[in-house]
Amino acid sequence: MRLRLVVPLIVVLAASSATAADLTSKMIMALDVNPAAVALWAAGNDPPDGESAFAADARWTAAVQGAQALQAKGKLLQSPGIAREGAWSTFAEIMTQVGAEGEIAARAKDPEKAFEIGGRLYDACNGCHKTYVPRTPGA
Ligand code: HEC
Repeated sequence: MRLRLVVPLIVVLAASSATAADLTSKMIMALDVNPAAVALWAAGNDPPDGESAFAADARWTAAVQGAQALQAKGKLLQSPGIAREGAWSTFAEIMTQVGAEGEIAARAKDPEKAFEIGGRLYDACNGCHKTYVPRTPGA
């Protein structure tokens, strides 16, 4: 019984130590970039009604961590085997730099700055998707 609880943990640890080449852009997006961006965007939004001080702290902490993840994943997206031809690395680098600014804003708990940075973050996501992600009609 004890062992059963340990095994999934090992699987999770093994997955998180996978090298860049093991990961596809899709996995990086779904597992890391998207939740990180959502956390940073939440810092620029109005707080939920009646948010407690504890919940506010957690939201800002998540925003700092999200901003850090965006910096790391922006670099990862620029690494050999993942980076693509053209403007790919420019968009990925913008994500890294915006993430660095987002970290400063989230540490300062500055919602206006986080909102402005969140807009530029969205432009980086959207720019790369428009260039590299084929769209199906109606999507
Ligand atoms: C350097 C290019 C690049 C940047 C920057 C980028 N993306 Fe992506 N994203 C992609 C590509 C390529 C795919 C398609 C992956 C596939 O389906 O193979 C994708 C797919 C996604 C998906 C769908 C994942 C899935 O499960 O199918 C989400 C969600 C996503 N991106 C979110 C974001 C967000 C949020 C940002 C900005 C914070 C962002 N992306 C920035 C290249 C990028």
